[in-house]
This record gives sequence, structure tokens and C-alpha cells, in this order.
Amino acid sequence: MCGIVGYIGPKQAAPFLIEGLTKLEYRGYDSAGIAVFDGKEINVEKSVGRLGVLKKKVESDSPIGCIGIGHTRWATHGRPSDVNSHPHTDCSGKFVVVHNGIIENYLHLKEKLITKGHVFSSETDTEVVAHLVEEYYEGDFEAAVRKVLTEIEGSYALVFMTEHEPDKIICTKQDNPLVIGLGNGENFVASDIPAIISRTRKTYILSDGEMAIVTKDSVWVMNRQGVPITKKVFEVNWDAEAAEKGGYEHFMIKEIYEQPKAVRETMSGRLAKDDSHIIFDELKWTPEEVAGINKIAIVACGTAYHAGIVGKYYLENLARIPVEVDVASEFRYRSPLVDDKTLVIVISQSGETLDTLAGLKEAKRLGARTLAITNVVGSSIAREADHVIYTWAGPEIAVASTKAYTTQLVTLCMLSIYVAALRETLAAAKVKELIQGLRDLPAQAHEILEDVEPIKTFAQQYGFNEDVFFIGRALDYCVALEGSLKLKEISYIHAEAYAAGELKHGTLALIIEGVPVIALATQPDVYEKMLSNIKEVKARDAVVIGIAMKGDDHIRNYVDHAIYIPDAHKYLAPLLAVIPLQLLAYYAAITRGCDVDKPRNLAKSVTVE
Ligand code: F6R
Repeated sequence: MCGIVGYIGPKQAAPFLIEGLTKLEYRGYDSAGIAVFDGKEINVEKSVGRLGVLKKKVESDSPIGCIGIGHTRWATHGRPSDVNSHPHTDCSGKFVVVHNGIIENYLHLKEKLITKGHVFSSETDTEVVAHLVEEYYEGDFEAAVRKVLTEIEGSYALVFMTEHEPDKIICTKQDNPLVIGLGNGENFVASDIPAIISRTRKTYILSDGEMAIVTKDSVWVMNRQGVPITKKVFEVNWDAEAAEKGGYEHFMIKEIYEQPKAVRETMSGRLAKDDSHIIFDELKWTPEEVAGINKIAIVACGTAYHAGIVGKYYLENLARIPVEVDVASEFRYRSPLVDDKTLVIVISQSGETLDTLAGLKEAKRLGARTLAITNVVGSSIAREADHVIYTWAGPEIAVASTKAYTTQLVTLCMLSIYVAALRETLAAAKVKELIQGLRDLPAQAHEILEDVEPIKTFAQQYGFNEDVFFIGRALDYCVALEGSLKLKEISYIHAEAYAAGELKHGTLALIIEGVPVIALATQPDVYEKMLSNIKEVKARDAVVIGIAMKGDDHIRNYVDHAIYIPDAHKYLAPLLAVIPLQLLAYYAAITRGCDVDKPRNLAKSVTVE
């Protein structure tokens, strides 16, 4: 996720670009930049760091000109640095582009362009786009951009500008948002409405595959073949604060709804087109290297730790390698048996959690090989680890982690398939089945989010109970742990997660009439056993909400209410089953009037021990 803006009109562009980027900083904040055409040439100002750094730079020496584009970055390809910041230009500096998304085939395009003499200055995927427009420009900017769009694969919102035709901005989108603000004698482009709301409330919301030629007096929208499209003006009636949350009441619910996209982005370019294998360009491990690993240790905190527990299940089952999982604050004080044959995987959304960072350092001191799974490019943990895989969830702002968790799971699943291939522990048919399952996930997650009313009702019904239990077996138990944490941290309801088979060893004493029990029953291998556990709590008059796969009508005979998730591969069910639990926690917190995005006593990034 990044934020992009553009301006064309009679006024100076830079003030709007900076103001717009300020409103979009929630979309990314590791670097920022603007490009403005001064009548003779395009001047680019960009710098690593929060937008404040760029603001300071342009305060004293603002680029002059009435057409410009800008960007606030959340790094995916290439660490945050001045040179990797957008806007990006071609060799001549006459074409400039800002981008939100991922160009999946950029390496291939970059190699081709290098053989044609193009010289690249950044590590980003975006820079190839600027060079491609230069390559295809034959006196017609629009035609050149159109040709570029036939070459690039992936997700994007792109905004282009050139010195050759300085009376227009061209923009287009695929799988990433882009709006055009319609002014009087001036027009605006932005990733999102907050950037333009102070200037105009009349907008065109671009759809995938659409392209627009924006001048100061006109906006022409067409498809990529140039066929005109008549757009309806969308009048924005949200206030500025709601607009920042995309019209949602809280960042948490916005981020819950972003999960289909976050999961899709995280898989982007990593699933082979024929579903035969996983591509991790960032690892490039060999069978010999992997053969040298005899154990994996996963180290993380909170939600990331819960993802790690699912990771253990994946790695042990798919890659047949022993895995232990530790909360980071315990790991380094227990004299872990870790050496140069151990791979230590640390998982951290922020990449800054002190306990996890300390665990990573301890693992390195003991000689282990280290791999970080994190959402923040260039974070302390990313810099410290030997290898890094980034989840491409975009910034997570709500304190309660949601889309980071699901993208961590999808990454761990891909990693397990990748390691399994190197260890030859997984048949080709099983790999294919799993990859096809992964491909189905974004649509399946979306399906859950389409009908949240029953979950809302349960939350309202049970939101005032003081105790809730989550039970499950196998992977369902891992999800139960995360569901219970979500409920605790944002609704302040006491919640416990139990391996369902463990209840009878003590906790069953707490199950009395009316206690809500959330029972996950998505795992076919332990389904019958799970039903027995549900019977145990029903016999004590608990109120049971069952989470099951679509088509499982049988469960209705055992539970008070059933919530269904789409029928998924058993290993991938956790990615879906967690969504109703996130929603349940969210609506319970609303019912209780809690501060959802900033729960008491908690911080988003815990940089103290
Ligand atoms: C819970 C939550 C925390 C974090 C934990 C680790 O919703 O957000 O439990 O998961 O503090 O944070 P990261 O992943 O940034 O290391």
C-alpha cells in the first residue's frame, strides 16, 4: 500500500501534493516524494523518512509549477531509501511515474530494458515502468502508456507525467484504488478520497482496466484499448476523518476488510503460473542448504506467535521437519538448543518488537541461520536477519492485528511448500492442490465479509458476558488462540482458548449454564472428536457457537448457532476461520463501547522489554 496524488490546474501544484500526501500518510510512511513540471523541466524532490522530512526539504525550496505528482511509500521491492522513493524517472528524466502496487514481472522487464541500454538507479519494481514509457514513446504519450500496460503484470495504480506533453496527467489502475477529483479549471488524482476532500467532493472512482487522461479542464476516461467510458460522478458525503478510514468507522474493521487484497498481494508473483511450485526470489535456497537444517525454531510475540503455531503445523506436516515455537520473551532466557543447523524464523508485523529482535540476536549469537517474516521493509528485524520474506499487507494501523496475521499465515504456508519441495517431502499433486487452494483464498475471504450480520448479532447478544471460551483441535486450536486474544484485547472480555481435548483435564469446571463457547470444527481429521467435545460443553448448558465449513449441516444438531466459512483446503481453513472471530471481537468491542483502534494499556509496536 502506498499513497499517490496528482494535480493539474492554474495553481502551484506542490502545496496540494504535500497536503494530499499528508492525508494519505496512513497508506505508507517510509519515504515520500513529489515531481513538478516548471515549464521547462520536471523537478523531483524525494527523501526517505516520514513525510515531515520531505516537507522540510520543500518548505525552503518548493518546486515551482502547476502540474505535478506525488507519492508516500510503503516499501515492498527495495528498502526505504532516497533513491528507492517515488517518483521514478526514465534515463532522460523526461518521464515520471508514481505507483501503488507490485509489478510482478519487473525483473524480466528490467533485464530486457538493460540489454537495450537502459540504466537503472533504484531497486524498485516501479522504475521499469518509467523506462518502458521512454522506450515506447514515439511522439504520443497516451499510446506509449497504453503499450506499457500490455507489458506489465501485477497490481497497480499508476500516475504518469512527461515533459513532452505537459498539459496532461495519465493515470490507470488494476487492483489498487485511484480516484479523480473534479475541480473548476483544475483536477486532482489520488489513491483515496481523504487527499482531495478539502478541494472537491465530486469524483470519478476509476475501475480496474480504466485509464484517464486528465487535463486542467477535462477528464477523459477510457479502457486500455482507448474506447471511451462514461463515468458517473460520485459525490463524497463523508467527513474527512471517515474518509481516511475509507468510510469505515475504525481502522480495525477497514483492515479486516482489506484481508482479501492483502492476502492476494502477499501471494503475488510467488505462486508459479502452472501451480507447480512456490517462487521466493528473496531466498533462492538450494536442496543442499536446506538439508543442512535439522530443526526450525519460530520466535514471535502475540498474534505473530499465534501465526507461528500454525507455521509449526505447516512445516512439520508438509516439509516433515521438527519445529518448536516460542514466545520471544521466553526464548532467549531458556538457553534454547539452537546451533548452526537450526533455522530460526522470527515473525513480526512491525519488525520492531524488542523481544522478537532480542530473540533474533540471541539466535544469531548461537550460530543459527535466521529468516524474518515481517511487514515493514527495512525494519530493525528485517535488517538483522540473514533472510527476509515480506508480507505485503500494507500498513496496519489498528493496534489489534488482523491482516498481518492472515498474510503471515499465507507466507508460512508458501514457505512450507517451498521447503517441502527442496526436501522432496510433498507429492506434486499435493503441491498443486495447496496452491490452487491458496489462489481461492481472497475470494473466499471476501465471501465471509459479504455477510457479517449474524456475527454482529451474536456479538450483541453475548458481548456483555464476562467469560468466553474458544475451543478447537489441531489447526482449529491455533485459530482459537488468536480468536481469544482478539476478544480480550479489544473488548476486555475474559477469554480462554483451549485444545478441546484438554477441557476435561480441568477447565470444564468453568463451563456453566449460559457461558458462550466458540467451537471451531473445520478440521476433517478430528471432526468427530470435536463433536464429542462440543457435547461435553453442551451437557453443562454452555451456549455454543460453532464455526464450520459450508455444507456441514450436521453440526447444527450439536450447536446453538453455526457460522460457516467457505469450504477450503484443511490447511487453509485457519485463514478463513479467523475472520468471523476477528469480526466477533470487533462487534463485541463496539457493543461494549470500547476504543477499538486504541485499546487500553496497549501500543501498536512494543519496543520495550
Ligand atoms: C495483537 C497484536 C500483538 C502483536 C505483537 C507482536 O493483536 O497486535 O499481539 O502481534 O505485539 O507485534 P509484531 O508483529 O509487530 O512483532
